[in-house]
Amino acid sequence: MNKPFDDSEPPDTPFDVSLRPPAFSEFTGQDKVRERLELLVAAAKGRGDVLEHVLLSGPPGLGKTTLAYIIAQSMSVNIKSTSGPVIEKAGDLAGLLTTLERGDVLFIDEIHRLQATIEEYLYPAMEDYKLDIIIDQGPNARSVRLNLPKFTLIGATTRSGMISAPLRSRFGMDCRLDYYTAEHLASIVTRAAGLIDVEIDGAGALEIAQRARGTPRIANNLLRWVRDYAQVRADGRINREVADAALAMRDIDADGFDEMDKRVIEALIHKFAGGPVGLSSLSVAVGEESGTLEEVHEPYLIMQGYLKRTPQGRVAMPKAYNKLGLKVPPGKGGGQPELFG
Ligand SMILES: Nc1ncnc2c1ncn2[C@@H]1O[C@H](COP(=O)(O)OP(=O)(O)OP(=O)(O)O)[C@@H](O)[C@H]1O
Ligand SMILES: [Mg+2]
Repeated sequence: MNKPFDDSEPPDTPFDVSLRPPAFSEFTGQDKVRERLELLVAAAKGRGDVLEHVLLSGPPGLGKTTLAYIIAQSMSVNIKSTSGPVIEKAGDLAGLLTTLERGDVLFIDEIHRLQATIEEYLYPAMEDYKLDIIIDQGPNARSVRLNLPKFTLIGATTRSGMISAPLRSRFGMDCRLDYYTAEHLASIVTRAAGLIDVEIDGAGALEIAQRARGTPRIANNLLRWVRDYAQVRADGRINREVADAALAMRDIDADGFDEMDKRVIEALIHKFAGGPVGLSSLSVAVGEESGTLEEVHEPYLIMQGYLKRTPQGRVAMPKAYNKLGLKVPPGKGGGQPELFG
């Protein structure tokens, strides 16, 4: 068990692997991040240099792993893939680092889950390409310094706030991915439909895109379901009606809400009278850890205008009341303090 790395394939289903864009030119959306990374790659290649360390953060399914593979591909280097919790001992890390060749990418997914002791070993490795490890125990214990080839560390995390300051500061580039617009998702869906060989029109792609919670992984999963539906219940082609009927059959929310989104809105309105309520009270009410709530679930609700963060706490916006079929109570739904007058 616990193989410290797996360099065979990106960790997704075979279906998904084929949908993973292999190059920057096929990667839709995240324009700023993509441009910065393309520039970084072009500059490093131009100098014949090794790419600097890159941190990719953002909610699940937005393309962090995909980008790591694209970066390695466009640098024409090997990529070794591992994940924070899998590296248990300094020896695991040494085993990974010593197999790298100059320029290779070490991809550490869920890097916020690295143990503190492992992190300490990583600092000199990232900075000076040296690894000091202790071998043997007791009176024979001694420190051995290994020289490493110059490599690129790409870290991915869904919990940017959990990355310690010393680790963060050792990355040359810090990229934050954000939810995709429906338009970008629609073109991702159209591209994926081409790859899995199903006919889709613009309205059909947009219908799927709007219900995908800003997330390419969800969009691809929904597309797969709609394709199956179209094959069995229609003529195999996807248009708006087919997409709508297929998604209705799965109870996919029209706004792309998932279970937690619904729970947050309901708690905010029913238990806390629309707020303002502190993050920790809200997190207890919905049964989710506060950091995850803040970094993984809330950003979508905020982007879509259902929730607002104010200095007093979280506040439900009018859209949240409408979502639950409620009228916005007077003085609520904006977080503005009531004025006496
Ligand atoms: N910009 C994009 N264009 C097209 N497809 C994309 C894009 N970003 C992601 N995808 C698709 O979404 C899937 C999920 O992306 P990926 O695995 O890179 O997400 P992630 O950010 O690493 O998620 P996690 O945090 O769960 O590891 C990919 O397999 C790919 O098919
Ligand atoms: Mg990933």
